[in-house]
Amino acid sequence: MRILITGGAGFIGSHLAEAYLENGDEVYIIDDLSTGSLDNVAHLKQKGAYHRRLFVHIDTIMNRDIMMELVGTCEVVHHLAAAVGVEYILNNPMESITTNIQGTEIVLELCNKFKKRVLIASTSEVYGKHTHAPLIETDNIIYGPSSKFRWSYAASKLMDEFMSLAYFRTTGLQVTVARLFNTVGPRQTGSYGMVIPRLVGQALRSEPLTIYGDGNQTRTFTDVKDVVWAFMRMVEIEEAFGQVFNVGGREEVSILALAQRILAATGSSSELQFIPYDQAFGKDFEDMQRRVPGIEKINALIGFDPKTSLDAILTRVVNYMRKRTDGV
Ligand SMILES: NC(=O)c1ccc[n+]([C@@H]2O[C@H](COP(=O)([O-])OP(=O)(O)OC[C@H]3O[C@@H](n4cnc5c(N)ncnc54)[C@H](O)[C@@H]3O)[C@@H](O)[C@H]2O)c1
Repeated sequence: MRILITGGAGFIGSHLAEAYLENGDEVYIIDDLSTGSLDNVAHLKQKGAYHRRLFVHIDTIMNRDIMMELVGTCEVVHHLAAAVGVEYILNNPMESITTNIQGTEIVLELCNKFKKRVLIASTSEVYGKHTHAPLIETDNIIYGPSSKFRWSYAASKLMDEFMSLAYFRTTGLQVTVARLFNTVGPRQTGSYGMVIPRLVGQALRSEPLTIYGDGNQTRTFTDVKDVVWAFMRMVEIEEAFGQVFNVGGREEVSILALAQRILAATGSSSELQFIPYDQAFGKDFEDMQRRVPGIEKINALIGFDPKTSLDAILTRVVNYMRKRTDGV
């Protein structure tokens, strides 16, 4: 099969590309390298058999002509290209909205034109500032005012969901929405605020581990391998079309406890340093206290029940980052 992965040189996209190549498929990637990197797919280019089945286009999804060619060529599209993460959005406010809304509109319009199956990567951010757990797909959505710009990421991804569902309702487009909760693993970068690579990097460099707020906010973390497994199945199943699914882990952990486990996993004696949100992100910032997914819906669809423990994930990330930084 021919698979198009937008954002395929990014963290999740590169793992998805690898899994499809292992499967014997042909993989087409489009990525503008804004947060991704050719390093993420360099090892695939070097593997002889993969080399002939991997096609990497350095371009933006806003280039409709190249997107027309790529969507026309492939049978399945995984749309992962996006301005990702609250920190990146706060630093690139205008471009982020354009990529996340107009970019997705181009993907959906072309998938509809050529009648291609498509998975849209959304985010747990769309739930907004709930404090209850678990969050389920039918929950209400609660945002702060538009003056708090962090909500633009959630709102832009929510608009992607609405567009996807509108296409399904009006034209029968075979589209599935995956609401990803924190996904982690090797190749994720800490440069745009992602918490695990950021804290592991600090621990390995013997710098203080910087925790925003009091550290009592909780998250769950899913191994990227488990997410890739789910994505590959979700695009194959008819009952998934026109539906939104949480994709996330079960183990709820506070950021403070996470930092302590990272110290144990790295053997680092770094101190913990608490940074008030307004100092880290400006006065308009607000965080979500808890973010835990209900995964019954996706479990019923494909038996998704991620088993990789947080400690196993941390070991994998620490080993990867040690190798990259040569222990520094
Ligand atoms: N990693 C997570 O925890 C997480 C959580 C929720 C949602 N998601 C979603 O999953 C998807 C992948 O995220 P990721 O964690 O791999 O991040 P990432 O930043 O590594 O991947 C995004 C990729 O998209 C590319 N890109 C951005 N704008 C583009 C454009 N206009 N044209 C072409 N390429 C473009 C980037 O260069 C990057 O390679 C995103 O849609 C993100 O919103 C991720």
